[in-house]
Amino acid sequence: MSKFWSPFVKNLVPYVPGEQPKLSRLVKLNTNENPYGPSPKAIAAMQAELNDSLRLYPDPNGERLKQAIADYYGVQSRQVFVGNGSDEVLAHIFHGLFQHGRPLLFPDVTYSFYPVYCGLYGIPFEVVALDEQFRIRVEDYQRPNGGIIFPNPNAPTGCLLPLEAIERLLKANPDSVVVVDEAYVDFGGATAITLVDRYPNLLVAQTLSKSRSLAGMRVGLAVGHPELIEALERIKNSFNSYPLDRMAIVGAAAAFEDRAYFEQTCRQVIASREQLVGELQRLGFEVLPSAANFVFARHPGRDAEGLAAGLREQGVIVRHFKQERIRQFLRITIGTPEQNQALIDVLEHFHFIQTHSQPL
Ligand SMILES: Cc1ncc(COP(=O)(O)O)c(C=O)c1O
Repeated sequence: MSKFWSPFVKNLVPYVPGEQPKLSRLVKLNTNENPYGPSPKAIAAMQAELNDSLRLYPDPNGERLKQAIADYYGVQSRQVFVGNGSDEVLAHIFHGLFQHGRPLLFPDVTYSFYPVYCGLYGIPFEVVALDEQFRIRVEDYQRPNGGIIFPNPNAPTGCLLPLEAIERLLKANPDSVVVVDEAYVDFGGATAITLVDRYPNLLVAQTLSKSRSLAGMRVGLAVGHPELIEALERIKNSFNSYPLDRMAIVGAAAAFEDRAYFEQTCRQVIASREQLVGELQRLGFEVLPSAANFVFARHPGRDAEGLAAGLREQGVIVRHFKQERIRQFLRITIGTPEQNQALIDVLEHFHFIQTHSQPL
């Protein structure tokens, strides 16, 4: 706290990202990065861009990337917005598309950046409880609101909402913007981008940090009706005209174009997830059904915070949230088969009671 801070800054409650440890020997399963590298074609495109042209500003519209995304999803480039990570895209969405007269709705257990953006932009919000099985019930969102947002699959639970339920939500809320944050959709869900032409109130956000292995480049996107996109462009052009640098634009476009590599690495992560779920259940963990590149698990006989600390001492980091309802869960990112095995090896040494559990 400093006397130079404005009252606004004094009252901000910032988001706390997962740890990025300096030690490279750690098995890092805490921030849902991809265990595989980016597409070799994306790396080659970025290397080719490392030249004298860096003295020039990049294309402020990132048109090359917008077109690659539009081609991939069969939409028009004017339906696409791109930004510096989906966190930045989400920030512009909160700023530009959620109303202040009524509360924004999102689940009680969800991405913890949402309430932070509400604080930053002065947006009132109400949390809507997930059901007993930690699932979103769209019927609970039929109440006055200034917008709706949720990740699909949800984070940190990994649970997926079918497109049919999202359509019911869109129909029930024709006067609100409904944002589906699809950071993890490529690991087991169907994208709601297929619905954007029919629902002008739908905006879908995605990131290249997870399924396209480019967390270090910071690229995110949104797809929706051109009028929603125009609102985001207005905010962006009032804040930072060049959110994506030259390398990010060409690297992200190449990542979208290299479908074969993307599909293969997603398949590998999904196969590893299924295997890890089996191993965790063998050790007595209850594991929520996951359509993401992480699993959310608890052990009936062990305190989750203690488990996370014990794992860390053995060089394996996972994420624990000190939050009501989920205090006894660990969120574990899917690693390579070797990383997952390292986790299981450490857990095995903790001598769990060998009860066989079912998914919740
Ligand atoms: C649900 C969700 N949305 C958005 C993001 C932000 O992703 P990025 O800013 O890396 O694109 C994350 C990151 O973990 C996330 O879990």
